Amino acid sequence: MLQQPATQYRPFPSVNIVDRQWPNKTITTSPIWMSTDLRDGNQALIEPMNVERKMRMFRMLCEIGFKEIEVAFPSASQTEFDFVRQLIEGDHIPKDVTIEVLTHAREHLIRRTMESLMGTRRAIVHVVSAISRPFREIVFGMSKAEVLEMAVSSARLVKQLAAERPETDWVFEYSPETFSATELEFSLEVCDAVTAAWGATPDNKIIINLPSSVEVATPNVYADQIEWMHRHLARRDSITLSIHNHNDRGTAIASAELGLMAGADRVEGCLFGNGERTGNVDIVTLALNLYTQGVSPGLDFSDINAVARTVEYCNQLPIHLRHPYVGDLVFTAFSGSHQDAIKKGFALQKPDTIWSVPYLPINPADVGRNYDSVIRVNSQSGKGGIAYLLETEYDVVLPRRLLVEFSGEVQRHTDRFGGEMSAADIWQLFIQTYLEPKKPLRYVEHHLLEHGNVQGIHMTIDINGTTHLLAGEGNGPIDAAVNALCELVANLHVHTYEERSMGSSLEGGDAKACAFIEVAQLGGGGECYGVGVDANIVTASIKALVSGVNRLGLDWTSCSDLQP
Ligand code: KIV
Ligand code: ZN
Repeated sequence: MLQQPATQYRPFPSVNIVDRQWPNKTITTSPIWMSTDLRDGNQALIEPMNVERKMRMFRMLCEIGFKEIEVAFPSASQTEFDFVRQLIEGDHIPKDVTIEVLTHAREHLIRRTMESLMGTRRAIVHVVSAISRPFREIVFGMSKAEVLEMAVSSARLVKQLAAERPETDWVFEYSPETFSATELEFSLEVCDAVTAAWGATPDNKIIINLPSSVEVATPNVYADQIEWMHRHLARRDSITLSIHNHNDRGTAIASAELGLMAGADRVEGCLFGNGERTGNVDIVTLALNLYTQGVSPGLDFSDINAVARTVEYCNQLPIHLRHPYVGDLVFTAFSGSHQDAIKKGFALQKPDTIWSVPYLPINPADVGRNYDSVIRVNSQSGKGGIAYLLETEYDVVLPRRLLVEFSGEVQRHTDRFGGEMSAADIWQLFIQTYLEPKKPLRYVEHHLLEHGNVQGIHMTIDINGTTHLLAGEGNGPIDAAVNALCELVANLHVHTYEERSMGSSLEGGDAKACAFIEVAQLGGGGECYGVGVDANIVTASIKALVSGVNRLGLDWTSCSDLQP
């Protein structure tokens, strides 16, 4: 059994902020986005990207619309260094895109990092140093003053090396790694000191990035931390305040959204949430969450499947079937009540009006997804899904009571065979059930005869492989056919009759008539539907009648005694 954790884990870091403003805020503009797929994301891969994969990812990030892209950790490996050189020397960086590189706060690493950027037009140099107590005490064995000094001296070195290369437009970024687990006053002291060392001004802003390197608290605590920093940073007007959320508690999206409400201007993250351990915050979800609230995210996910394919190729990791906005199943409803509501929503949704299809927070078409995949049918499904698939794929609109009857057949089928039924599977079952039922009765042909006001009919029916000629009269062709069939089924009665035309997608391409007849044997069992399809509506109706009689479940073995 899991032990009570109270004594084993540190409680949330507390924040002294009584008049917090963020709960009253809403996000009304999109933040500056920074993709760290090629750095933080790449560091977390089982097999880090080679240069070819990195280049593919870089191109796609540019196409999506990222203007800031962290492309590498150049001092970490030759591949990383070479990729930066290839981007610069191959002139692969669009004019409106700024590349970013990460370095730890160590002199030799900083020098190597600056070397990788030689000759670039514009670059963000991202210096990181961990400052929380466990890092100070366990990892570095340093005092607070020493940790502060490491950050400040690194900032000075970066500034000095940058000054030696005036041909590049330099932007500096500092991240107090493990910020969310650090005493706020100390984070502030370090950030203020670095900002001062870089001489940030409103015209020459620097980036202060406040990571939840490991997510250790609820999103409201992170928001409090961000608002506190936002209010206390010494040169706030000279700072682009950035956030960088990891997803250890599964709340990175919420933390980032609240962080933006709390005053952040910029978000670092990865597509579909790749990144160390549980990942970085997912920029796709963040961006599309904004989109569904009427805020244009400035990133293009109109073909989200194409983005997913490239990400899966580059990362060599699959995206979960239920991942927000992109997973294969996220625009799919299995449950009957959901399917029914979605079907009604689609029917009423008008183009260019507020999107309000139940259960679908976004129009799948906006991300290049297809309505066809919206409704799938399994044993949890109901009439709505079946109706939707038959209607959209086969142009068949079933009468309501027939739909109820047929959904029972679908249910029996899925209960028996399990799994999911596609539109084609459902249509096959419909054909087997109503249009090509297993014998005994099969319509062969009929001739109509006029006797004054009376309609006569001669029908040829195959019963268990033997043909029978039946004759009847009535006030119309269907009545006459019912009376002819009464030779076989006493007290046959038609309860309801409907006919519809069907689209040309069916059976050979000609438009067809479809007849739905609900029959019953008075004094016998219950009623059931028969369906007939033919180019001629009378033939379709007689076929429907025969189909219905077949489905009454009568015993036809003695019919071979009938005169052929
Ligand atoms: O998670 C983290 O703290 C980082 C820093 C380098 C920003 O990735
Ligand atoms: Zn990170």
